[in-house]
Amino acid sequence: MPENRTVNSPSQGTVVAVRGSVVDVRFDAALPPIYTVLCTGPDKKIVIEVLAQLDARHVRGIALTPTQGLARGMAVEDSGGPLQAPVGKGTLSRMFDVFGNVIDREADLTDVEWRSVHRAPPPLARRSTKSEVFETGIKAIDVLVPLEHGGKAGLFGGAGVGKTVLLTEMIHNMVGQHEGGSLFCSIGERSREGKELYREMKAAGVLPNMVMVFGQMNEPPGARFRVGHAALTMAEHFRDDERRDVLLLIDNIFRFIQAGMKVSGLMGQMPSRLGYQPTMGTELSQLEERIANTDSGAITSIQAVYVPADDFTDPAAVHTFSHLSASIVLSRKRG
Ligand SMILES: Nc1ncnc2c1ncn2[C@@H]1O[C@H](COP(=O)(O)OP(=O)(O)OP(=O)(O)O)[C@@H](O)[C@H]1O
Ligand SMILES: [Mg+2]
Repeated sequence: MPENRTVNSPSQGTVVAVRGSVVDVRFDAALPPIYTVLCTGPDKKIVIEVLAQLDARHVRGIALTPTQGLARGMAVEDSGGPLQAPVGKGTLSRMFDVFGNVIDREADLTDVEWRSVHRAPPPLARRSTKSEVFETGIKAIDVLVPLEHGGKAGLFGGAGVGKTVLLTEMIHNMVGQHEGGSLFCSIGERSREGKELYREMKAAGVLPNMVMVFGQMNEPPGARFRVGHAALTMAEHFRDDERRDVLLLIDNIFRFIQAGMKVSGLMGQMPSRLGYQPTMGTELSQLEERIANTDSGAITSIQAVYVPADDFTDPAAVHTFSHLSASIVLSRKRG
């Protein structure tokens, strides 16, 4: 955890149960509120986010790091606040994980502020209503299915139909010309693709205007579930404080839903249709509604959406579809 965070109430707790990623903690003094980050483990490297208060003394949380080595009776420290993400000019050209740690092996992070990743979407009154075409540089898309400036576009497709390739192609075409910042957020995808993209962006010289945030498939579900929030917090800073237009690319939003499903199951919630979490709609809209066009700037987003088994009636695809202003379906038949 970065050291420069303020600790308001350093109350101590004790681990009472560990079930995979789910940890129950007892606090005899003040019970930490929902979303509080707790640190525990032999060297305080295990990070837990509180997701439920079970009773007056116990909270249940999900680990954002692996829980190996965690045992009953270990001391837990209340960090006094929610998960935070770095925002500001210092984030440009850097690569982050869900905790806001830089993972590009470059210099330490400077010129940043830390903000909670849990933020409310902008109110309706602040949203902008004008619409313009957003050029992607891919002719077939710009002519036939133009995207909207400040809109949300989805690239739907089953496994291996070319979502990542198309998204990467769009980044190549757009990031250079886009005056605002660009943010690439990878959720639950391959680490190799992230590394390749970073190298390509560096070679193309567009990295100085770009931020990359990764929560890859090898990371625990808690981390994959929160990485989107961390990326959005960084994007919102460019929109609200620097009044710039931001391009937000997400690969893959389905993995966010999937991580939420894992978290919900681990927390002991009853599954809903097809095993998805009963709170899927709420979770997705809390994230998607923050991607908005306001009077200070716009966040234009392009999201890859994995469609399980090419079934477009899958609840995850249907829910995602309803948030988007444009959708491009990659069909296997045309491939
Ligand atoms: N337009 C294209 N023309 C030819 N080959 C393509 C095209 N788009 C993608 N491919 C090939 O298809 C393969 C899979 O593409 P890609 O990794 O983008 O799929 P994906 O939809 O992101 O898959 P996943 O759901 O597994 O992430 C790649 O190896 C790529 O070479
Ligand atoms: Mg892919």
